[in-house]
Amino acid sequence: MRKTFRNHLIPLCLLAGATFTAGNSFAQTVTIPVETQNNALVLQTDAGKNLKMVYFGAKLSNTKEYENIQKMYNQADDSGILNSAYTPSGSANLAEPAITVTHADGNKSLSLAYVSHVVTKVDDDISLLTITLKDPVYDFEVKLFYKTYFKEDVTEQWSVIKHNEKGIVTLNKFASANLNLKGAGFWLKQYHGNWALEMQPEEAKLTHGIKTIDSKLGTRANLYEPSMFMVSMDKPATEDEGKVLLGALEWSGNFKIDLELDVSDNLRIIPGINNAAAEYHLKPGEDFTTPAFVYTYSNQGKGDASRKLQRWARKYKIVDGEGSRLTLLNNWESTYFDFNESKLAELLKDTKKLGVDLFLLDDGWFGNKYPRNGDNAGLGDWQENKQKLPNGISSLVEEAQANGVKFGIWIEPEMINPASDLYHKHPDWVIKQPNRPEKYFRNQLVLDLTNPKVQDFVFGVVDDLFTKNPDLAYIKWDCNAVIYNAYSAYLKKDQSHLYTDYVRGLYKVLERVRAKYPKVPLMLCSGGGGRVDYGALKYFTEYWPSDNTDPLERIFIQWEYSYFYPAITSSNHVTDWGKQPIKFRTDVAMMGKLGFDIVVSKLGEQDMNYIHGALKSYDELKDAIWHGDQYRLQSPWDNDAASIMYVDAAKSKGVVFNYLVNNRYGAGTKVPIRLKGLDPQKKYQVKEINLYPGSKSSLDSDLVLTGDFLMNVGVNPRVNSHRSSVVLQLDEVK
Ligand code: DGJ
Repeated sequence: MRKTFRNHLIPLCLLAGATFTAGNSFAQTVTIPVETQNNALVLQTDAGKNLKMVYFGAKLSNTKEYENIQKMYNQADDSGILNSAYTPSGSANLAEPAITVTHADGNKSLSLAYVSHVVTKVDDDISLLTITLKDPVYDFEVKLFYKTYFKEDVTEQWSVIKHNEKGIVTLNKFASANLNLKGAGFWLKQYHGNWALEMQPEEAKLTHGIKTIDSKLGTRANLYEPSMFMVSMDKPATEDEGKVLLGALEWSGNFKIDLELDVSDNLRIIPGINNAAAEYHLKPGEDFTTPAFVYTYSNQGKGDASRKLQRWARKYKIVDGEGSRLTLLNNWESTYFDFNESKLAELLKDTKKLGVDLFLLDDGWFGNKYPRNGDNAGLGDWQENKQKLPNGISSLVEEAQANGVKFGIWIEPEMINPASDLYHKHPDWVIKQPNRPEKYFRNQLVLDLTNPKVQDFVFGVVDDLFTKNPDLAYIKWDCNAVIYNAYSAYLKKDQSHLYTDYVRGLYKVLERVRAKYPKVPLMLCSGGGGRVDYGALKYFTEYWPSDNTDPLERIFIQWEYSYFYPAITSSNHVTDWGKQPIKFRTDVAMMGKLGFDIVVSKLGEQDMNYIHGALKSYDELKDAIWHGDQYRLQSPWDNDAASIMYVDAAKSKGVVFNYLVNNRYGAGTKVPIRLKGLDPQKKYQVKEINLYPGSKSSLDSDLVLTGDFLMNVGVNPRVNSHRSSVVLQLDEVK
């Protein structure tokens, strides 16, 4: 169906399949509401065919009224395109552009006029709006895509850039989206960090000018500043109140998110690939697809927004998001590089004794001429080290099976140590400047994934492992270096494509891995959380938030990650970091995908008994933790005790984790903590679980309370210095 139109309003949800085209007699405006269950983003053309974003917020009940929104504003805009839906540069713009180009003839001006749009309904939940914009002078086109997930209130937005000019066009900037928000002030919550210090939050009111969150690290791009953020409108949103946007760029490389408080006090958010040293040369007829920017909005606070994103991620993004996960024992912190077959045989027995599903063999199992006995050699030589493992991985997989557990393995296939056979064989596969000294990060360099031969090699690392060991059940994919001295022997003249094509190369490899091994669990690790983003998580079942497993630190780190990623993706291991007892450490690790990285043989009997009990509770509660809704009841940042709750979809089973995070005299929970997300009509038995053997709960054992009571009065977990970690299980009583 093709329609020409004169005016008006085309609700995204109603007119799927129809194409609307700007006719010659175009004079009226076109209004395009991009609606989800509760929210709307409204686009509108002006008389000059400029496409603008005029609204972002709660959906209006009368769709027709969207047409009147723009008329209510009387803000200065000399350029006429301050709120452009995708700001071009070098023509009318006076603000930060979304796109900057150099045409084939060297001209740098771009103008984008609305041409048409079409809505495709993918299924009951998902719609895809495609808007075509064209330069009236140059044969240059941008298509804007808005993929909406109606029930989840989530939108993914990206653009596809194309031209048919007589020669190469250079894309100097090429953002994924260009949002325009109105509000009486904007507050940005952003994150910074480093190794073992991931997800440190900062929140501040945005002032005029541009605030940029970005990365130039190449790989491990989120290490210093992750690409996730929140913006509150009108006033800083709290957990349950206020207007807030949560956004994240689905890209595992350099990114740049500009937040510009403009001359008219509106906020322009322009996320995309970082264009620093990364202009892209586009041939005629070739498509350039930007990564997607995913966002959600709530007018009921950060908690509600985060649950929307978590639901979307489980349902649509991460691999097997609504499925199951394996508990495991990892050997990294118990052996580091120092192990052999007999030590591993003991660890396999320990895995069984502990009662977890899988043993994960970490770094150090490969390299012969350059054995991986430390982090300075071996990366690239993915053959079993004959001294440590004379009978190879296959015998370990068999041994694991004999012990009734599964076997998983660590790899870091994108990386290379100069001390490796691979380095000597293929120096041209390595990212490094031909005429400068090499600069290392953790004694290693990055392989050039823009090169298809390197892509084959990296895919081969994974494929070989699975081909030779079909029963291999898990892979931890690590990435410990950034890109220094960015230069690709493969790209030759197009050096500025390196950062972008590296990530595209990585995704090509991961596509191949997933095509052949669709469901096998893969952990996304980057020396911690240096690479957690939805571009990568699309291929992974879980991620490693931080090497910092001190449970006290983890409460804060996991708290912040959880705004963006669901608990089922958070690999939490009980280790020897921190001073807390085994109970505290295990309780914290249970708030996600539970694992262990401890010396099992050193555990006392009581500790072991405690773990066995905790694993039983975990089995009972994992559905609520992995697939249910998460409520952050009490923040660790400004309370003596942190409290986090998970409740299953039926609201019949839940768990509340409470931890003392302040060691000052008398610190603890003096008043009840109000629960959330329960059914007020239902009755729940509240019982303390994960009690250390021999200890008694301070709570009444037969406490049965209504959801109404629990949500309005609450329950006091009686956290104090003697009860520093208290876990409460809720079961509906019929
Ligand atoms: C960094 C990871 O975060 C650790 O868990 C471990 O796998 C080491 N790399 C191994 O080198």
